[in-house]
Amino acid sequence: MDASKQHMETRAVHGGMEGLEQAGSHVPPIDLSTTNPLPSIAIGGESYDQMASGGSILPGQSAVYQRLWQPGVARFEDSIAGLEGSDAAVAFASGMAALAATIIAMVNEGKTHVVGLRPLYGGTDHVLDNGLLGTKVSWVHAVDEIPAAITPDTGLVVIETPANPTLELVDIAAAVKASGTVPVIVDNTFATPVLQRPIELGATLVLHSATKYIGGHGDVMGGVICANDEWVHRIRHIRALTGGLLHPFAAYLLHRGLRTMPLRVRAQQATAQEIAERLVGNSALNRVLFPGLPECDPLGLVGRQMEGPGSMLSIDLKGGYKAAAKFVESLHLISHAVSLGGVDTLAQHPASLTHRPVAAEAKPGEGVVRLSIGLEHVDDIYADIIQAL
Ligand SMILES: Cc1ncc(COP(=O)(O)O)c(C=O)c1O
Repeated sequence: MDASKQHMETRAVHGGMEGLEQAGSHVPPIDLSTTNPLPSIAIGGESYDQMASGGSILPGQSAVYQRLWQPGVARFEDSIAGLEGSDAAVAFASGMAALAATIIAMVNEGKTHVVGLRPLYGGTDHVLDNGLLGTKVSWVHAVDEIPAAITPDTGLVVIETPANPTLELVDIAAAVKASGTVPVIVDNTFATPVLQRPIELGATLVLHSATKYIGGHGDVMGGVICANDEWVHRIRHIRALTGGLLHPFAAYLLHRGLRTMPLRVRAQQATAQEIAERLVGNSALNRVLFPGLPECDPLGLVGRQMEGPGSMLSIDLKGGYKAAAKFVESLHLISHAVSLGGVDTLAQHPASLTHRPVAAEAKPGEGVVRLSIGLEHVDDIYADIIQAL
């Protein structure tokens, strides 16, 4: 059966598992080899050229060296590429390593300018604002500001939707249109391909902090770029040169995480929707920021661009910083910790933590607390939030 015609749940379970049965395995083996046997100098040399320049291993070739090719990483990449609907994927040690390699690949193509649509994750904002590798950024705050910000040097338009931590949504197809021939990279960490597939909407690249919903258990870091063959080739070439590799054991955990991701994402989303609705109108809050509330989705993107709103929500406390600090320190069940997308609910104060390096004009409000809703029972999560409020 053609895998591309199978449902998301089926592809998540079976993606990247090709050839295992013939090898006598049921799950992917963890191969920790840093180096690989070379059948001959000639085959070794050809293999090296193929992979160091960004190509995939060919039949009969040697993987040569882990920085060039790793079979378990390649299995994870095949699986996530299948879910995102991209030609291929390139995995890294973290989401930031994936973004950095993409920027290096852009500079390698002679482009030195990026357009960034704020808000973005604080680390992404920081890297772009700091001009990694001499790049320059023009910040915009709406899709219709993109065309005027593009220059002949622009190599990427960077967007994130839902955005971290305000959960604002960006119309991806409109952003692609506004960017013309400039490739758009969408950070799809919050939505995952279960809820949103930017490539189907015209994006050229998709970025994930795989540390989040893909791993899903708060115990593995990774990053991945999904893209067409041309970009994957370029970025894999940069990975071979600069070495921000995903470790084979991390690849195993991320690949395993993908298999339950559709179930986790949908279950966490249902709980988040319920919690958001219960919190609306709470007298301690200015606002509940959650794409599943009609007032937070003015363009009607949930149900159109996204299958559902996801399970990240932010609350804006009336008492500002003091109230936010008291709230996170009063939680019992919910952990006060950065990161997101795991099975347990987390809360953190973006202005002080994940968005600490962001310029004052783009920083989230002092009363905003971000919640990553987990798999606990909705009543237990809600009770903890209420007692802390
Ligand atoms: C939306 C988003 N993108 C990218 C990153 C960076 O990923 P990593 O921490 O895996 O480097 C994060 C991390 O929090 C994130 O939330």
